[in-house]
Amino acid sequence: MGKLNGLEDKVAEIKARLEEAASEMGTSKEVYEGMKEFLDPKKGRISQLMKDMREVAPEDRAEFGKTVNALKTWAQDRFDTIGSEVKQQELMMRYRKEFVDVTLPSVSLKKGNLHPITQVREQLIDIFASMGFTIYEGSEIENDYYNFTALNTPQDHPARDMQDTFYLSPEFLLRTQTSSGQIHVMENEKPPIKILSPGKVFRSDDDATHSPMFSQMEGLVVDKHIALSDLQGMLDIFVQKIYGEGTRTRLRPSYFPFTEPSVEVDCSCFSCGGKGCRLCKGTGWIEVLGAGIVNRKVLENCGIDPDEYSGLAFGIGIERTAMLKYGINNIKLLFESDIDVLSQIDD
Ligand code: DAH
Repeated sequence: MGKLNGLEDKVAEIKARLEEAASEMGTSKEVYEGMKEFLDPKKGRISQLMKDMREVAPEDRAEFGKTVNALKTWAQDRFDTIGSEVKQQELMMRYRKEFVDVTLPSVSLKKGNLHPITQVREQLIDIFASMGFTIYEGSEIENDYYNFTALNTPQDHPARDMQDTFYLSPEFLLRTQTSSGQIHVMENEKPPIKILSPGKVFRSDDDATHSPMFSQMEGLVVDKHIALSDLQGMLDIFVQKIYGEGTRTRLRPSYFPFTEPSVEVDCSCFSCGGKGCRLCKGTGWIEVLGAGIVNRKVLENCGIDPDEYSGLAFGIGIERTAMLKYGINNIKLLFESDIDVLSQIDD
């Protein structure tokens, strides 16, 4: 047995067992379990050796203790080494699993954009807001009075035939023009008035350039001494901002019941600069909107004295503006929600 009560053999056996176990350890958890088996302060195989100390002669106990401690230190070192090797292996495995090839081309993300009609509507609002206009949003269902009669278009007036109306009842209809907003504003506000009224309008009309539902932007200014030159000044700014710096306007006599005089506003062709091309049908000019000086009768209908005040009004078609600006030849393209078409227009 020897003076250390067979300790040397047991040390050799523990070392051999530890090495055997170590060769099978592949994860940090296994290393941890192994450490518990050998080095747990109470139940560990090495601590258990201390029990045999009782059988050893007192003078040999110091050497016994030293031998066991040396084994403990050795085992601790072995587990440190194995532990860091296993950790390294685990890390490499994780790297392999989570590998990302940063040289691969990225998946392209589709960016959304506002609908062209919304874009133009916002551009128009920005332009006129910078001139001091505020917004009035009327309602899409109107009665006959606001849509026609108050706008100097009484029943049986031939101008009613200019717009094919959707009637909801003999009295109510889907508004055919945002001009109805003029009446609501003038009934409720005293001059000076400067409003912009954007919104949907409805007409029984359907072809490449007309849709039963479309949008307009009405403008109305009422103040003392308002003249056609004020109208043209504002519209010059509008066409320059929408169609480009060098664009000019031209007023042509026209007829609307609610304006007198009435004008059709053309802008110089922004495609050919006025020389004549397909867009302007060789004329150098493109019709962009209707406008005029508010008819005295309309002011009177709203309780505004036409001898004291005068007004200007204009009505811009938003789809028409978008079609001209972006070269869209069929209004349906604006309503079909084809992303490939709509995503091309991002101003
Ligand atoms: N309301 C007219 C239309 O829908 C457009 C218009 C013309 C509005 C002249 C106006 C104007 O305010 O003065 O055809």
